[in-house]
Amino acid sequence: MSQSPTGFSHEAHPTPVPASERAELLRDPGFGRVFTDHMVTIRYLEGRGWHDARVHPRVPLSIDPACAVLHYAQEIFEGLKAYRLEDGGTALFRAGENAARFRRSAERLAMAPLPEELFLQACRTLVAADRDWIPEAEGGALYLRPFAIASGTYLGVKPSDEYLFMVIASSVGAYFKGGERPVSLWVSDHFTRAAPGGTGAAKCGGNYAASLAAQAEAIAHGCDQVVFLDAAERRWVEELGGMNIFFVMVDGSLVTPPLGGTILPGVTRDSLIRLAHEMGIAVREEPYALDQWQADATSGRLAEAFACGTAAVVTAIGHVRGGGVDFAVGDGTTGPVASRLRRALVDIQRGRAPDPDGWIERLF
Ligand code: COI
Repeated sequence: MSQSPTGFSHEAHPTPVPASERAELLRDPGFGRVFTDHMVTIRYLEGRGWHDARVHPRVPLSIDPACAVLHYAQEIFEGLKAYRLEDGGTALFRAGENAARFRRSAERLAMAPLPEELFLQACRTLVAADRDWIPEAEGGALYLRPFAIASGTYLGVKPSDEYLFMVIASSVGAYFKGGERPVSLWVSDHFTRAAPGGTGAAKCGGNYAASLAAQAEAIAHGCDQVVFLDAAERRWVEELGGMNIFFVMVDGSLVTPPLGGTILPGVTRDSLIRLAHEMGIAVREEPYALDQWQADATSGRLAEAFACGTAAVVTAIGHVRGGGVDFAVGDGTTGPVASRLRRALVDIQRGRAPDPDGWIERLF
């Protein structure tokens, strides 16, 4: 066991996965199935604050059955990636945005906020410990999953006075099995994801749990993903189960639903808006109705639509069904605007393009 200058104690895995086995796992990792050797934990206790920051072998947790998170879902998480750069280095992409969102999510879930610098140190420390797990292949990355749970032991409905923050890492390839093939969407007309005043803008497990019945419905109807409408009017397109959405008009301009409490403020969403501005592409953050979407796709006013997120990057939408609609978007391939934005984003993440806004933090 050693102590680092950042205050993290380090315990190296005594029996890490052998290099040949790791290489085999990294050949086609899929998403969220291949996990690395180590993890980070940091504890919080009211009155003492955040303490006991450690990177150590990845182990199962042992928690009391009355642990608060198991009952009232006081839990938040993040998703960000460490990328292999063109020159062999490794970098994080806009990790400060994830740290800030994690703090906002904590506030919404009445959890103790983790200082943003500690969040970043935790991510950097885990990437350094598990650097051999970053896939080399184009499209591959080390997906970091920071999360925090209420770890107090009680059954009263109240904010916990103990929390456990952890970071685990997963070597990943494409999020969707079909790779870059356009996905089909199922419009959920009776389930909604988030209501005004709810937790839609927070990255908490509960939002994703609430999306699963709708996602199962999408799969049952032969679609890849669910797309949610707003809870108040059941009219405005909001987001997918775990991704934001963009529409590309035939004049090349973009439309994306505005943030306003019910939509997750995606880091990829924000990055694409900025990249589009830099490319001279107009972006309107304004409500877009499902019936308008169908009318525009049918009349040809809409050229493309795509989903975006850290996991999915930029994924074209090819078909939309359910909720009284059934229509194709574009010609069934990834359109030129989605391709161009995806390439611009990935080129920055991989260190192949200039990074004027300082989005990349080189770790080593
Ligand atoms: C991400 O894109 O990182 C997400 O959080 C989506 C999903 C894997 C939960």
